[in-house]
Amino acid sequence: MELSHTMRAVEITEPGGPEVLKPCTRPVPVPGHGQIVIRVAYAGVNRPDALQRAGSYAPPANASPLPGLEASGTVVELGPGVTRYSIGDKVCALLPGGGYAEYVATPEAHALPIPDGLTMAEAACLPETCFTVWSNAVMRGGLKAGERFLVHGGSSGIGTTAIQIARALGARVFTTAGSDEKCAACEALGAEKALNYRSGDFVAMMHDEGGAQLILDMVGGPYLPRNVKALATEGRLVQIAFLQGPKVELNFAEVMMRRLTITGSTLRPQSDLAKSRIAAEVEAHVWPMIAAGKFRPVMDSEFPLDQAVAAHARMESSGHVGKIVLKVE
Ligand SMILES: NC(=O)c1ccc[n+]([C@@H]2O[C@H](COP(=O)([O-])OP(=O)(O)OC[C@H]3O[C@@H](n4cnc5c(N)ncnc54)[C@H](OP(=O)(O)O)[C@@H]3O)[C@@H](O)[C@H]2O)c1
Repeated sequence: MELSHTMRAVEITEPGGPEVLKPCTRPVPVPGHGQIVIRVAYAGVNRPDALQRAGSYAPPANASPLPGLEASGTVVELGPGVTRYSIGDKVCALLPGGGYAEYVATPEAHALPIPDGLTMAEAACLPETCFTVWSNAVMRGGLKAGERFLVHGGSSGIGTTAIQIARALGARVFTTAGSDEKCAACEALGAEKALNYRSGDFVAMMHDEGGAQLILDMVGGPYLPRNVKALATEGRLVQIAFLQGPKVELNFAEVMMRRLTITGSTLRPQSDLAKSRIAAEVEAHVWPMIAAGKFRPVMDSEFPLDQAVAAHARMESSGHVGKIVLKVE
């Protein structure tokens, strides 16, 4: 198939609020070794896109400066050395950037087949959150069946994914969210208890349960010392973001005396090989959860690509539960 040489996309014109996202025209990407080009059906919207837009999360040196870390669509071009996919295959993929566009290139090892029974819109929501949750809660955090798992931001794209994956693994899930309605949504997804953090204390909630064996946190700031208090002896804290800031005073004697582990990671700057390993684990463990009906992405809303401004405003209003997508095709 002969591809057009240019495509519609959305760019970040300058650091700022949602209004700095503007439609633009760009060359269609050329696939490098081991890469596929995807004609994008839907692009997932993630909080890191908003951080990039605001100027506080620069893309890695060799990545597209266009926003967009995940997409679903059809393979339309193969780079040299591609072995798994063929032209016409439907995939969803983790992207180094560039998802807010009609076409995007990414390593084929970061693409996965669309799970049976999911729409293309749902599939676009999977890569960024599944890779992040699996690599941090399971590969890094070592989450196991029966453990008490506390995930903050339970109604977020990450949170709704973490609740379901942890339940499917047999963990006991506790969560926090910013309203009673969001808490009800988290409990409907399988959380044993969801706490409205505006009126309740998650440290007390976890103490009543014997302490959290694993905490997945995106809030940071004042949550850091409180997370330490909420952990059980030998508990693990995995930090994936710092919505309330990365700097805090912490008494590390508590970490030593109760043999705690504090770690964390961010997905985007990791090597292609590391992301390929995560992709293989996600396909081996999370795709069967989807097939078994134990996990399905929670969809909040859908916007056309040229309304990316409204999609970002929706996300930053924090009124959403689950994932927001852009319809591109
Ligand atoms: N490490 C990684 O590789 C990685 C990858 C992807 C995402 N992330 C991070 O994971 C987080 C969730 O991402 P997402 O795409 O799922 O975003 P999202 O759906 O927008 O979720 C953000 C959640 O954080 C809560 N929140 C916002 N501001 C807060 C604050 N100041 N204090 C406490 N809670 C706050 C909101 O819930 P309430 O309204 O209930 O407060 C919202 O549900 C983001 O911080 C993102 O940067 C990290």
